[in-house]
Amino acid sequence: MRSDQPIGVFDSGIGGLTVAAAIAEALPNERIFYFGDTARCPYGDRSVDEVVSFSRQVLDFLYALGVKMLVVACNTATAAALPALRSRYPVPVLGVVEPGARAAVAASSRGRIGVIGTAVTIRSGAYEQSIKNIMPDAQVWSLACPSLVPLVERGEWSGQAVEEEVRRALAPLRWVDLDTLILGCTHYPLLQGVIQRAMGNGVRLISSAEETSREVGRVLASLCLLRRATEPPVHRLFTSGDPERMAVAAQRWLSVHHALEGARVELVADWAAAPTL
Ligand code: DGL
Repeated sequence: MRSDQPIGVFDSGIGGLTVAAAIAEALPNERIFYFGDTARCPYGDRSVDEVVSFSRQVLDFLYALGVKMLVVACNTATAAALPALRSRYPVPVLGVVEPGARAAVAASSRGRIGVIGTAVTIRSGAYEQSIKNIMPDAQVWSLACPSLVPLVERGEWSGQAVEEEVRRALAPLRWVDLDTLILGCTHYPLLQGVIQRAMGNGVRLISSAEETSREVGRVLASLCLLRRATEPPVHRLFTSGDPERMAVAAQRWLSVHHALEGARVELVADWAAAPTL
């Protein structure tokens, strides 16, 4: 592996751009190849076998482009497939569940932690397990919120209808007296303000993105794989779906993350025709 190879980041859709953005902010010299499987999103209501098989296809594609690390920036794919994916590639494969659990435990004042995610993520119990591995006496409440990913994928990130849907979806957790809530789906940080209003200011919201980006930095440093080249990195976005939608989402993502202003991002719409390095 060479240090100037890119980092491959994968999500079922556009939500993983939140993780890609955190990596780009923490490690501004790194090149990122991002794949959003928007044609087959959402993964969250599919069978585990399907999620494993789709994840392999996408990671095979990114690996063939010559990445030095793979980041599964999708909670659903991490929860369903990480062990199978880790043994498949000779490069480090990082997920988002353990970093999210670590960040939540560090932030929690009373060990009353909520987790929201897709049906597959919540059914897997992966967050609960990771939290309890670190803090055995934590109390964990988990809730699947299947209506939220479609909102984000449609670009509905704010407004009255979104506020109402988020309040409705989170209602079972609003009376539990949580101190911390894990946004256990990469799409949810794009609704962060709405979720905070629904839960109230007493609840700390945790996304895996920052902690995952720190882990990416730690692992690359330990392998002497941090990029040293001095010319600015060019990021590439791949989508299996509508390139227009990906372009619009990426544009919004870049304007949200000021550290990335001026970064060069190329959109490669046709993943079958993507150039290899
Ligand atoms: N990005 C996925 C996750 O983090 C959620 C979207 C989906 O259901 O595909 O869980």
